[in-house]
Amino acid sequence: MADKIPSGAPKLWGGRFDPAARRGAQAAEFDRFSASFSYDRRLAHAEARGSRAWARALAAAGILNTGEAAALDAACAQLVAELAAAPPPDDPGIEDVHTYVAQRLEAMAGPAARKLQTGRSRNEQVALDLRLYCLDLRPACEQALGDLIAAFAAFARDHADVLIPGYTHLQRAQPVSFGHHALAYAEMLQRDRRRLADAYARVAVLPLGSGALAGCSFPLDRQALARELGFAAITQNSLDAVADRDFAAELLFTLALLGIHLSRWAEDWIFYSSAECGWLALGDAFATGSSLMPQKKNPDALELIRGKSARQTAALMQILLLLKGLPLAYNRDLQEDKESLFAALDTALDCLRIAAGVVTTAAVRPEAAARAVADPALLATDLADLLVAQGVAFRDAHEIVGRMVAATLDAGRDFRQLSPAELARLAPQLDPAAVAQLSAAASVARRNCIGGTAPEQVRAQAARLLAG
Ligand code: ARG
Repeated sequence: MADKIPSGAPKLWGGRFDPAARRGAQAAEFDRFSASFSYDRRLAHAEARGSRAWARALAAAGILNTGEAAALDAACAQLVAELAAAPPPDDPGIEDVHTYVAQRLEAMAGPAARKLQTGRSRNEQVALDLRLYCLDLRPACEQALGDLIAAFAAFARDHADVLIPGYTHLQRAQPVSFGHHALAYAEMLQRDRRRLADAYARVAVLPLGSGALAGCSFPLDRQALARELGFAAITQNSLDAVADRDFAAELLFTLALLGIHLSRWAEDWIFYSSAECGWLALGDAFATGSSLMPQKKNPDALELIRGKSARQTAALMQILLLLKGLPLAYNRDLQEDKESLFAALDTALDCLRIAAGVVTTAAVRPEAAARAVADPALLATDLADLLVAQGVAFRDAHEIVGRMVAATLDAGRDFRQLSPAELARLAPQLDPAAVAQLSAAASVARRNCIGGTAPEQVRAQAARLLAG
């Protein structure tokens, strides 16, 4: 790569440097090391929009004459249009996105473009571009999150009456509606959605007009710049504005937690689709075969969602470590904020879309779920509740049912098959008819408070989510 850098080209912003130092392998090696265009070219559209707004502000402040302003505005408009569809191709001869846009504008608008850097620093440009880029992705992120929430809600509506064992400690605990389980993830995603909106409130603050660090020395209207670029507010401290990446860290935390939610869900559904449970058959489009074992249908989509969540968490760690101990204001270290942020955003969007596909194409296997949920152990709490209804204190009921469990379940029997004599000995307070009526369906139906697993509640919550 190093040999592709035009050897001996004058150093960018390099009036004070010895031209002789541009020759030789070390200069080329450092150019390659310091270049960021291979990844920050994604910011080209944002950079062109920012440049257009800046040119207009310079014109309004009388720094550009009418002809210069018109030439620059037309060139910026053309570049904005050109870059809307896709970023420019990589070019190892270009240092960064700021150089790329400056060179293009100079080629299009001529000498007027050489005035564009008046009062403006790459330090604030890169902060602006990154914020604009994140803002551009907001609709896609919200759409993908909303679609996945809707997919879980539809699953819950359709499978509210399918019961599965609910777990604690990965030990069977109580019956729950399969829909209730899906809605637990919808709930997490709802929080992610609110967290995302909250994080975006701090992304949408304009840093432009901060100069390199001390503020702008020309009388530019920062509020007008903010309006033009779609920002809700402007930064209030120039040192902070060029050095701040909190907005990226907050966004990354939101994406990391979202990734962890998806990873937990993937783990549950991998288990549910295994032969050990068999309550779900994943859509063929989201499963893969084995190179050796012809019978295999592997849940690779879910495994990749679980695995990829590491990227977002790693990106969060990276930005926190990058910021720790950085002195004010801008430092070149900050160039290292981008690749992992882009990867985290890309991955989050991918995972959300694949997850929605997995949810909408999975088939529930009600017979297998019914076999699992027929485990009488799941009803031990309901048995204790029957005693409570007879006036027994819950602690005593717990003790009594514990003895019944030892006498029946541990021996492979169902406590509903206890003889009247056995029942009278173990728990004389119990009505044998009530014991015989215990069932998973009755168990979930009783949990009919808001937030409970009763199918009625599940359907109501699914309907609320689907209504938006
Ligand atoms: N590539 C740089 C970054 O990503 C852009 C800003 C460069 N500023 C500077 N003073 N060298 O942070």
